[in-house]
Amino acid sequence: MTAERPYDIVLFGATGFTGGLTAEYLARHAGAGLRWALAGRNQAKLAAVRDRLAAIDPACAELPLLHADTDDTASIEAVATAARVVITTVGPYVQYGEPLVAACARAGTDYVDLTGEPTFVDRMYLRHHEQAVRTGARIVHACGFDSIPQDLGAYYTVKQLPEGVPLHVEAFVRASGDASGGTLHSAVGIFADLPGLYRAERDRRAVEPRPEGRRARISRRPVPKAGVSGWTLPLPTVDPQIVERSALALDRYGPDFSYGAYVALKRLPVAVGMAAGSVAAIALAQLPPTRSLLLRLRTPGEGPSAEKRAKHWFSVKFVGEGGGKRVVTEVAGRDPGYGGTAVMLAESALCLAQDDLPDTAGQVTTATAMGDALIDRLQKAGLTFRVIHS
Ligand SMILES: NC(=O)c1ccc[n+]([C@@H]2O[C@H](COP(=O)([O-])OP(=O)(O)OC[C@H]3O[C@@H](n4cnc5c(N)ncnc54)[C@H](OP(=O)(O)O)[C@@H]3O)[C@@H](O)[C@H]2O)c1
Repeated sequence: MTAERPYDIVLFGATGFTGGLTAEYLARHAGAGLRWALAGRNQAKLAAVRDRLAAIDPACAELPLLHADTDDTASIEAVATAARVVITTVGPYVQYGEPLVAACARAGTDYVDLTGEPTFVDRMYLRHHEQAVRTGARIVHACGFDSIPQDLGAYYTVKQLPEGVPLHVEAFVRASGDASGGTLHSAVGIFADLPGLYRAERDRRAVEPRPEGRRARISRRPVPKAGVSGWTLPLPTVDPQIVERSALALDRYGPDFSYGAYVALKRLPVAVGMAAGSVAAIALAQLPPTRSLLLRLRTPGEGPSAEKRAKHWFSVKFVGEGGGKRVVTEVAGRDPGYGGTAVMLAESALCLAQDDLPDTAGQVTTATAMGDALIDRLQKAGLTFRVIHS
């Protein structure tokens, strides 16, 4: 059914910082056969993005521009029914994301986004998962630095370990980077509504089916087994929940899978500063006057310069154990927040549009929906997945 649609991929949010980088990546790498279009609420800004893309590939001068505004349901519906896969970088997702998820779930359209907002992921599961299962839509959240390195890295690590036995995987994240306006606004949105986050998670856990005879859980060991040198702090991001869902969906993770994620820091003062900074940001986000001060640090649409981004990097090391075997693996790459994220997001959409994948539907993870095919694409695009020792 979806093959008859006019576009393989529609990118919603190309006028923003990360959306612009994603559009540039598609202009360079999508290939002549891909039928794609840009969607957004401001035609003049969209036309300026298209001009930029035409300088990369003259064929992009013909890219169709679709009107789409999250306040105009009909325009969102039109995007969802015109595309086989929709990419959206329109965030904060808690604020703007739901109409498109709902429209894709109704229309049986595959969907990828960049959210790192657990509340959004859980609410979308509660409200739209069942319909997406019925229509065959694959709703894949967190296709950027949140959570591809961890989700696919844990998947890759599990595949190095014996089958059918309890497995434990720990991830140690090191990264350098800077936040865009969109990221700051999304993070402050999470901090400002922690009760909503816990409620959405509790409600989801109450209804989400669990596989019989297998379990998966997030490990919250205060002091992880040393897999890397330096200091570690628990990483309170959406990633462990995504990994847990992959483990619940795929038998390969074994009968009893546990996962812990930590940020790894070389020096104690940095670890202390990061913990204190997080506590301060959460405190400031609670009251409207201090929240708006925090939001003024970056305006939506702004992000780190190309020169700065060229110096940014990430490495996630995984220590996996089970069945008498221990393995250390790594996923690494450049510019995690933006350039690298644009690669991960665009390749996820291309993977859904073009690759032969397992049969999945509903809210699914990158490991469940795309697994090896996406790892293969990301390796070709310059990310490293490797076994350090086993
Ligand atoms: N998890 C990760 O690894 C990761 C990495 C990077 C970014 N992100 C997330 O991605 C999102 C985007 O970040 P960003 O820095 O690219 O943000 P941004 O530069 O502020 O871009 C936001 C985009 O959303 C559009 N938009 C806003 N409200 C809209 C509406 N009502 N209708 C239609 N379009 C609307 C904006 O259009 P206009 O240009 O018309 O204003 C713009 O294109 C954020 O939620 C951020 O947290 C996640």
